[in-house]
Amino acid sequence: MTIIFSMDGKEITAEDGKTLLEVARENGVDIPTICFHEATTANALCRICVVEVEGMRTLQPACIVRAANQMKVQTRSEKVIRARRTILEMLASTMDLSDAPEIQKMMIEYGAKSDRFPGAERRESQVKDDNPMYIRDYSKCLLCWRCVQVCAEDAQYTFAINFSGRGFETQIGTFFDRSIPETSCVLCGQCVAVCPTGALKPKREFLLEQGMSPQEINVLNTGRKKRR
Ligand code: SF4
Ligand code: FES
Repeated sequence: MTIIFSMDGKEITAEDGKTLLEVARENGVDIPTICFHEATTANALCRICVVEVEGMRTLQPACIVRAANQMKVQTRSEKVIRARRTILEMLASTMDLSDAPEIQKMMIEYGAKSDRFPGAERRESQVKDDNPMYIRDYSKCLLCWRCVQVCAEDAQYTFAINFSGRGFETQIGTFFDRSIPETSCVLCGQCVAVCPTGALKPKREFLLEQGMSPQEINVLNTGRKKRR
């Protein structure tokens, strides 16, 4: 079954059941995303993809809201732009975005000021370097949940990590804060692959950034199998 609705004043015909984001992408309409990833279940956590839907009191996250017959959607109204800009400014004021080039690009596009909330408390934490494959730097984590999902039902079924703590203290962590080798983690690397901010990073890349040479790294046990 197909539905007809309007997006930015343009009439669109779409398959029933698709999300606004899916339809937008099929029709060349750009809606930014951060927590959304094609390989993971959308949970609408970051809200950067919000759009204005006529008749709805609040902005709607395009990554989970389905397109419906006769809907009237604005993807770049003033309200939408202001909301996205504020989300970016709040992120920049509380976390380290230095390894998130896509978000940095969004900040320029939406005119977001990184110093808009100068008194905001920043989420700081020590780099966790406890396994041969990857490091975890949760100062760069925006809690998008992608890593948790690929570690669980969306891909690996390993369940090594999850949310821990509450409110501002919420972080991604292991059960009882155990080190990665003490968990069920199989070092598959899928969490690293889906992390949008560099909070999870291959250890080799991290060591190169720290100034170590490839030769120095090769003599460490970084978990890479030697080529025969
Ligand atoms: S570590 Fe990366 S993938 Fe995991 S929640 Fe944080 S930002 Fe998202
Ligand atoms: S991309 Fe839709 S809420 Fe994050």
